[in-house]
Amino acid sequence: MVRQIFLTGLIFFSTAVTFAQGRGKVDLPDGPGKELVQGACVACHQTDLITGATGYTNERWKHLIGKMINLPEPISSTVAHYLTINFPQNDERHPTLISGDTEVVFQEWTVPTLGQRPRDPLQTPDGMIWWAGMFGSLIGQLNPVTGEMREFKLDPAARPHSIVSDQAGNIWYTGNGNGTVGMLDPETGSITVYPMPDPAARDPHTPVFTRNGDLWFTVQNSNMLGRLVPDTGDIRLKSMPTERAQPYGIKIDSRGMIWIAYRGANKIAMVDPDSWKITEYETPDPDPTMPRSAHIRRIAITSGDMVWYVDSGRGYIGRLNPKTGEFKEWPSPSGPKSHPYAIEIINDIVWYNESGQRPDALVRFDPKTETFQSWAIPSGVGIIRHMRATPDGNLVIHQSSTNTVGLVTIFSSKT
Ligand code: HEC
Repeated sequence: MVRQIFLTGLIFFSTAVTFAQGRGKVDLPDGPGKELVQGACVACHQTDLITGATGYTNERWKHLIGKMINLPEPISSTVAHYLTINFPQNDERHPTLISGDTEVVFQEWTVPTLGQRPRDPLQTPDGMIWWAGMFGSLIGQLNPVTGEMREFKLDPAARPHSIVSDQAGNIWYTGNGNGTVGMLDPETGSITVYPMPDPAARDPHTPVFTRNGDLWFTVQNSNMLGRLVPDTGDIRLKSMPTERAQPYGIKIDSRGMIWIAYRGANKIAMVDPDSWKITEYETPDPDPTMPRSAHIRRIAITSGDMVWYVDSGRGYIGRLNPKTGEFKEWPSPSGPKSHPYAIEIINDIVWYNESGQRPDALVRFDPKTETFQSWAIPSGVGIIRHMRATPDGNLVIHQSSTNTVGLVTIFSSKT
């Protein structure tokens, strides 16, 4: 009986979001509800996200599931019951929160399409907040004053990894799923698609504009860097000098140099946009007896062109002084498994998150005093994958599991 309801339920409730990541299949513990979970919960990701989750109360499980899929009763309760019995609440991954003088106010909005993996939000000068709905293949727009939201559907194969806005207010996205870069004109809703000229460039990842209006982007697993000239649509690609470097985060410094984080090697690269010359800087190796984890995801740049990075593999943040080649690193408050992920600079203060913690923690680091302060993100079931400063010096964030985008308003110190 339950099975019948489930089957019709699945047809009825499945959305446009139907992409299983094909990896990470882990056996679930036996018990009533197991088959329902195996059926309903693998459309977008595998069971490893469930077995690897920290565990929640029944209420929290119900809440979390409700952000991903609309299950009818009694399936929803059976699933939540199964999860609560097998993955009960535990606080092992609670962040080590540090108090301090800065005050922040979090506002979060649940985005319309469930389980869409909202990510990489930004705010345009007109106040609109935009995000990429990767699993939902969409670009979303939020008016934070009214809470009104719109979703612009892309080719279902596009799976946008990230977005960036241009001077005219167009939103550019990287089509991570179909080897494209695209541009949404929000006025008309029209979408212009630029396919990669080389099929080996499969997965455009993170884009950024240089001051002359060219769009540069990393192509992570294809190990390439790309440049699109919007006026002509011309795309040029170049492979990274290091094998399997997995170029990831990308930023521009005050001189116009392009900086790239390597997710797959212990290096950060600088690219001269005129000559395409690539200079690589190797990050420190504190314990040569241990295998090195290479998970530098993203970078951000403070004044004086100091390059900051998050090392998710070791739970560190670090700084490179390109003038001297000197590195300095600091362990993140929640430790080696805190998995720092996104990073942004606002008024020379470093902001990043500890995505390995539940709740995901937002961290502030003051380079002058070398002190940390951190907060639990209210919706809290991670992950911020990329975050950016707003035009007025606040921060836009998101949580890819609880399907939210958020605005963090920062008030200077209490004193
Ligand atoms: C429509 C797509 C979709 C469906 C269906 C779906 N999920 Fe998810 N789920 C997501 C996305 C997106 C994430 C975030 C993944 C990421 O950030 O990489 C996620 C993450 C998770 C996480 C990790 C939470 C954490 O700690 O961050 C768990 C646990 C989870 N899902 C459980 C479930 C269960 C249980 C079901 C079935 C009832 C389910 N999911 C069905 C989209 C979906």
